[in-house]
Amino acid sequence: MILAIDQGTTSTRAIAFEVSQPQAGRSPVGDKNGGAFSAVAVSQIELAQHFPHSGWVEHDAAEIWRATLQTCREVVRKAGGVGRFAAVGITNQRETSVLWDAATGEPLHRAIVWQDRRTAEATGRLAAAGHEPMVQAATGLILDPYFSASKYAWLLDAVPGARERAERGEVLLGTIDAWLIWKLTGGKSHVTDATNASRTSLMDLTTRAWRLDLCALFGVPIEALPEIRDCDALLGETDPALFGRALPIHGAAGDQQAALVGHGALQPGDAKITYGTGAFLVANVGAAPVASTSRLLGTLGYAADGGAAYALEGSIFSAGSAIQWLRDGLKVISDSRQSEAMAQTLTDNGGVYLVPGFTGLGAPWWEPEARGTVVGLTRDSGPVHFVRAALESLAYQTRDLLDALKADGAPPLTRLKVDGGVTANAFAMQFVADICEVEVERPAFQEMTALGAARLAAFGVGLTEALWTAPAEAPAVWRPRMDEAERARLLKGWRGAVRAAIVAAR
Ligand code: G3P
Repeated sequence: MILAIDQGTTSTRAIAFEVSQPQAGRSPVGDKNGGAFSAVAVSQIELAQHFPHSGWVEHDAAEIWRATLQTCREVVRKAGGVGRFAAVGITNQRETSVLWDAATGEPLHRAIVWQDRRTAEATGRLAAAGHEPMVQAATGLILDPYFSASKYAWLLDAVPGARERAERGEVLLGTIDAWLIWKLTGGKSHVTDATNASRTSLMDLTTRAWRLDLCALFGVPIEALPEIRDCDALLGETDPALFGRALPIHGAAGDQQAALVGHGALQPGDAKITYGTGAFLVANVGAAPVASTSRLLGTLGYAADGGAAYALEGSIFSAGSAIQWLRDGLKVISDSRQSEAMAQTLTDNGGVYLVPGFTGLGAPWWEPEARGTVVGLTRDSGPVHFVRAALESLAYQTRDLLDALKADGAPPLTRLKVDGGVTANAFAMQFVADICEVEVERPAFQEMTALGAARLAAFGVGLTEALWTAPAEAPAVWRPRMDEAERARLLKGWRGAVRAAIVAAR
């Protein structure tokens, strides 16, 4: 078995995966066996969110560690004891930044969460000074407070003496993977995996090593950063006192990259989108980074099996949160599942569009000041139009990302693999297929993030011979069936709505 830790923005989970041979008749990728994975035990603890100021979002890293240990212990017990486990795999919310004391093992400040905008001025200053082309060429990332580097610098400035102590290696920095590996190994391993490192703005995307010039630009001492390893490398051994015996930590990847592996999107042209609170499209572009000219992010898909796959990523800040808003803000539904039937009571959207820019617009617009915008209301418009417009917005936003991918010269998409809560909504999934002109495929087993971490760890420790083999259960598939004129008409309406949202923001 593999113990997979999935430390997300809103909860911490541990899942025990049993690894066996694929069923006879299934064809593995190539002639190697990627194993069949089944989840046999799960434990989950919600994570408190702290909002000390407008635009600030913090987590307590000590709480994250306690929840990790508790969920892991529970799952190990439920799955029959530590003796049944071969390795640990970790996947995590990315970019969230932790500063801790190497001697005491205590965080020195609350972790700054990826959504936090407190360093917008700092990254804005760097952009105004003309640094963005260099940063983007080196790291694939634009200058935005989303990424870790400016958060690290903020932490070092905020905690008295931290910068000097960091230069002496007395205080350490890391994303959540590095924090958990350090705690799990009893302070023995200060390491990170290359996908998490690719989200800091400090790693050279091609060499996959920290860059001193970027560390100097952001004001982050390299001595405080973890060592970068491949996603399937040995990252450390758990302290025997934690689970009764040491387990190798043999896999780690940021959650969106882990989902790419979980889906088996391992070839150029394979892409996945995870519809959670936000939505993250990650498209495999092959063995070398592709520079985006369409404001997508260049990132690492994974580094494993002695090679690497690069990716282009589009981040949508509001996806499932638009449905939550229908329920909790607008109160036009009492359960998100109602949205599917309600949307279908209309034959079309009646010209009503919702641009869900509740926390600004992400890729490819990057308009932090944009806000939610509704256009096209008439005297006939009612609650159901808002429901339909919110569901349709998932597809339009996805289409914008796919257009950006095409403009960047990414390999043509084969299929779009989807996961996340909203994919239970068949209306929304059919609409994604129609608007994006692509086949949409939802696997039967939905925990792609944890599965990806488990697959990396199983491969790393030698339980499997390949990173992926197709699962036995057939996926659900939606095929495009909308006619061209209808699609063009809807996209024209959407683009007008996005323009309105952007004009209002400026
Ligand atoms: O980049 C942020 C992303 O990794 C967060 O994912 O699923 O924890 O919200 P999630």
